Amino acid sequence: MNVSLERKYHKGVSEFMKQLQSLLHHIDGKGYKAYKSIQGKYEFSKYQLSIDYVQGDPFASPSKIRIIVPNHIRSIKQQWKESKQRKVYTEDCIARAVGEAINKESNQSRGSGKSGLIYIDQPGQEILERTAVQLNQNSTIICLSLGLPANGRRINGREAKKLFLTILPSIINNSILAIKDEKIEASVQLADQHKVIREKMKENGWIAFVADGAVLPRASGISNKPLKKAVTFQSPEENRVEIEVPHRVEPLTGMALRKGINLIVGGGYHGKSTLLEALERGVYHHMKGDGREYVLTDPDAVKIRAEDGRQVNSVNISMFINDLPQGQDTKQFTTENASGSTSQATNVVEAMEIGASTLLIDEDTSATNFMIRDRRMKALVHTKKEPITPFIDRIQQLRDDLSVSTIMVMGGSGDYFDVADEVIMMDQYLPYNVTKQAHDIAKDYPIERQKESEVLSTQSNQRAFLSKSLQVKKGKKKKIQAKGRQNILVGNGTIVLDHVEQLVDPSQTRAIAEIIRHAEEQDMMTQELTLSHFLYLIEKMIEKEGLQAFAPYKNQHPGDLARPRRFELAAAFNRMRGVKVVNK
Ligand SMILES: Nc1ncnc2c1ncn2[C@@H]1O[C@H](COP(=O)(O)OP(=O)(O)OP(=O)(O)O)[C@@H](O)[C@H]1O
Ligand SMILES: [Mg+2]
Repeated sequence: MNVSLERKYHKGVSEFMKQLQSLLHHIDGKGYKAYKSIQGKYEFSKYQLSIDYVQGDPFASPSKIRIIVPNHIRSIKQQWKESKQRKVYTEDCIARAVGEAINKESNQSRGSGKSGLIYIDQPGQEILERTAVQLNQNSTIICLSLGLPANGRRINGREAKKLFLTILPSIINNSILAIKDEKIEASVQLADQHKVIREKMKENGWIAFVADGAVLPRASGISNKPLKKAVTFQSPEENRVEIEVPHRVEPLTGMALRKGINLIVGGGYHGKSTLLEALERGVYHHMKGDGREYVLTDPDAVKIRAEDGRQVNSVNISMFINDLPQGQDTKQFTTENASGSTSQATNVVEAMEIGASTLLIDEDTSATNFMIRDRRMKALVHTKKEPITPFIDRIQQLRDDLSVSTIMVMGGSGDYFDVADEVIMMDQYLPYNVTKQAHDIAKDYPIERQKESEVLSTQSNQRAFLSKSLQVKKGKKKKIQAKGRQNILVGNGTIVLDHVEQLVDPSQTRAIAEIIRHAEEQDMMTQELTLSHFLYLIEKMIEKEGLQAFAPYKNQHPGDLARPRRFELAAAFNRMRGVKVVNK
């Protein structure tokens, strides 16, 4: 900018600030609704403030604003956003910096309700594509939520002034304007490394990679932070691979699991579930310092568990379950209250319907009768009376006919030794390869198993959901709203996602709710469109237009959304009650 232009710009800026100041002065003490008048755009010296949505009262969900920082104020190097992945990591890095700056300000209530509170949709341990920060061609956009201050239901203009003219500028100064280039560069380098590891995994047919030195356990059952004083991961010799990654002198070394059937065994409390949980999360990428930043799993890996009580909408589970009491159909199995085994069978079939290539299973959360059936039980309950073909009798077919791999924790039964390609034993939190011993034992103690003859096909369960049948009305209004990570309110009902374990962030749930809303409004889902094809279209839309394509606000503010995988999106549709489904 030349000098006279800059002077003019700054003059303009102070005009805008004065305007906001006098507006706030003017509405001080008035009823809360008067805040609506501040909606609009204001130029500050280093950024533009856009007040996009003003809350209706101090207790309602907070107002939405954007801070738009032009590139000549905070330069963003082209190379930080030259690929989609780098851009996501840079945005993530800035969102974290803003979150930290907000936490450092005294983020306390300044009056009634949410008065004075400031939030950014702060990332957790995972690095997800999210709308909180967006790098545009010429600027960086930071999306915030803000509780506009009130006393009771009267506007507190003085606190509002403080918020807009002191606190927000300080947050911006201490985050996006202060963040060092090196910090962003480190983030971009991690993006490159993850990309290369994924490429190598694909090339070599590895479905999981766990680096030596990784920290798998979490601080507690309710914290996703690493456990201090953990035993760090060391690959068994037999599984150790080396990966040359950029921005590192030494190659990464660690355990690779190949496509096929992988069994994790070991004594109680020796770290089996901890390893599997790390693999579940490995479909996402983790931030530096998480301990799992070099733990990666097939991005199409899906955790499978029993989930009794769940809704099931016309799923063909006949590969596992047949001849239910009262002649219930298992080719179009529908229930409002699935049992342990039928819910787990449903979860497998639904995952494969939309292209899962690896199944992750833990005995702790499985239905035993779905997993195994021993000789004694076969003798007592005649096969004719038992509707279940257990997973063990299908697992090789899944691998051979459908190229679906499995990683399974099974410490309580050796039945799977025969069918496993690889057996890893956890002992004192360290893995050992015991494949040979397990195979020898299987030979010494043979078990008789049913051999399945028919060839499996993923085509056996393709369904179409009809968006016209979605029951979104609550009274006269439509209601589709995420509640935390686990619930989505739809009309008078709730989609329960408690057991969808790879849904990790409430912003993903919000995005799912917005996608459901979009599908319903546009009547996207018709008889002709399979669920799997619908999800493909949604993914294409996200690739092309970004998550903001599903923004809940009817202006530029994208809301707080993070990208879900298609599996978690499908999980929401699959658990909807009252929706009409057509089998293809
Ligand atoms: N590498 C490690 N270092 C330190 N503690 C660990 C490590 N891995 C797991 N733990 C801790 O050990 C405990 C048991 O782990 P985990 O639940 O994985 O055991 P498990 O083998 O699945 O047991 P079970 O057979 O009873 O299900 C957990 O509290 C976990 O946090
Ligand atoms: Mg366990």
